[in-house]
Amino acid sequence: MASVERIPDPQRAKQAPPAHVVTPRNRPARFDRIARLYRPMEYLSFGPMLERCRFDHLPALADARRALVLGDGDGRFLARLLAAAPRLSADAVEASSAMLHLLRRRVSLQGDRERITTTCADARIFTPHSTGYDLVVTHFFLDCLTESETDHLIARIRPHLVPGAQWLVSEFQIPAAGSLRKRLAGGVISGLYAGFRLLTGLTVRQIPPWRALLARHGFTPRAARARLGGLLVSELWEIAGRQPRLVLGPPTHQ
Ligand SMILES: C[S@@+](CC[C@H](N)C(=O)[O-])C[C@H]1O[C@@H](n2cnc3c(N)ncnc32)[C@H](O)[C@@H]1O
Repeated sequence: MASVERIPDPQRAKQAPPAHVVTPRNRPARFDRIARLYRPMEYLSFGPMLERCRFDHLPALADARRALVLGDGDGRFLARLLAAAPRLSADAVEASSAMLHLLRRRVSLQGDRERITTTCADARIFTPHSTGYDLVVTHFFLDCLTESETDHLIARIRPHLVPGAQWLVSEFQIPAAGSLRKRLAGGVISGLYAGFRLLTGLTVRQIPPWRALLARHGFTPRAARARLGGLLVSELWEIAGRQPRLVLGPPTHQ
C-alpha cells in the first residue's frame, strides 16, 4: 500500500487554513533523532509497563476493520493490533520518517505490509483522505499536542468515523488521589517533558485535557485501566451510534 511523505512548512501553512486546522507555530518534535533508542529508553525507564498499557484493550478490538493510528512511533502497537484484528486495515500517520521506517519494517516482517498505508505528516494539520474508520489510536501521542491542537485534531477526525467508532488513548497522568502519588507523578511528567524537550525539541509542557475534549466531541468512556499507581492510563472511548456496551468497573492500579 501507499506511503506518503508530507511534513508541511509551518510558514506556508499560514495561508487560509481550512476549518478545524490549527496553524502550528512550529515543526513537530523531531523523534527521528531517538527513533532507534526509543524502545530501549522506554524499557530502561518504565520496564514493560508502557507496553502493557498499549496492549490493555487489544482483546476488545478484535472486530475492528479500519484504524487510523496517529504517532505510533516504531509500530509495536500497530503490529500487535494487526495480529489481534485479522480483518483490520490501518492508516498510520507519523511525523518521524525514522519511526515510520521502523514501523513499516516491523509490520512487513510479520507479513502484514499490504494491510497498512503510512503517511509521514504532521497530525496537527493532517486530514484523512478516507472515511469509515471504526478505530483511532493515540498511544502517548496527545501529550505532544497543546489543548487547542488536540481539540482541532479530534474535530478534524470525527467526521471520518463511523457511528460507534472507538478512540484508544494511553497517557501519563496525575492520579486523582494521594498527595504523594500526585507529587511523584508530577515530577515524573515534568522530567519526561524536560527530557523530550532536550532530545526532540518538543515545546509542549503539559498533557492536554484529552478526556474533556473527547467528551466535548461526543465520545463516552467505555473502559479504563490504570497502572503504576495511576501514573499510566489506557482508555477506550466510543462515539455515539452503537448499542451501549458493558462499562467496566473503576480502574485497577498495578
Ligand atoms: C512519545 S512518542 C509515542 C510513540 C508511541 N505511540 C508509543 O506508544 O510509545 C510520540 C510519537 O508521536 C510522533 N509525533 C509527535 N508529534 C507529532 C505530530 N505533530 N504529528 C505526527 N506525529 C507526531 C513522534 O514522532 C513519536 O513517534
